Amino acid sequence: MSSLLSQLSPSITNMIRLDHTHVLTAFHQYEIGSSERQKRGLADNVCLAIEIHAQLEEEIFYPAMRLVYDSEILRKSTPEHDEMRGLIARLRNMPVNDPAFDDTFFDLMRHVMHHVADEETMVLPAAERLIPEQLSELGARMTKRRVELAGPRAPELASSMAKSMSAGTIMGLGSMMLAGAYLLTRGKYGDRLASARARFSRAV
Ligand SMILES: [Fe+2]
Ligand SMILES: [Fe+2]
Repeated sequence: MSSLLSQLSPSITNMIRLDHTHVLTAFHQYEIGSSERQKRGLADNVCLAIEIHAQLEEEIFYPAMRLVYDSEILRKSTPEHDEMRGLIARLRNMPVNDPAFDDTFFDLMRHVMHHVADEETMVLPAAERLIPEQLSELGARMTKRRVELAGPRAPELASSMAKSMSAGTIMGLGSMMLAGAYLLTRGKYGDRLASARARFSRAV
């Protein structure tokens, strides 16, 4: 990646904050009384966003921080991601009408909110204090890797967004989280994405 592109990239800390905002916004759109289809779409969308975000942090952000920041918060970050992955696996394998679905979703929400609070009050400020000169380059690396991770899953994202929006829900989650990946991978995955959109727009 050229150094100019790296310098122009948003900082990795701001990209992480943006991801957090979109996931938390999506959480607050989940309602007990929503249709099963909407709940499935919202849950699938949140799960996918968390998976990609966690992998990006583990591959790019946490290794850079471990070199300069010795902290219990940082040491427990990946185990906390693993707890989220466990809840995500449970949600994916559970029918929405299972009596435990809502509680499992809210359990995931609690884990994520706690984890995000630690990152935003401790880890991100530490990064901005300790490695300010690296934040744009790390942001550029994160963007590149996001495209690689999100592109192949664009049809999955389109499907979940279509379901979650079926009653007018405004899903901000996908727009910034993965929209860049859509644009950058449109050529490679455009056909699959277009057919998924068409399928789900007919179904809504
Ligand atoms: Fe994290
Ligand atoms: Fe995070």
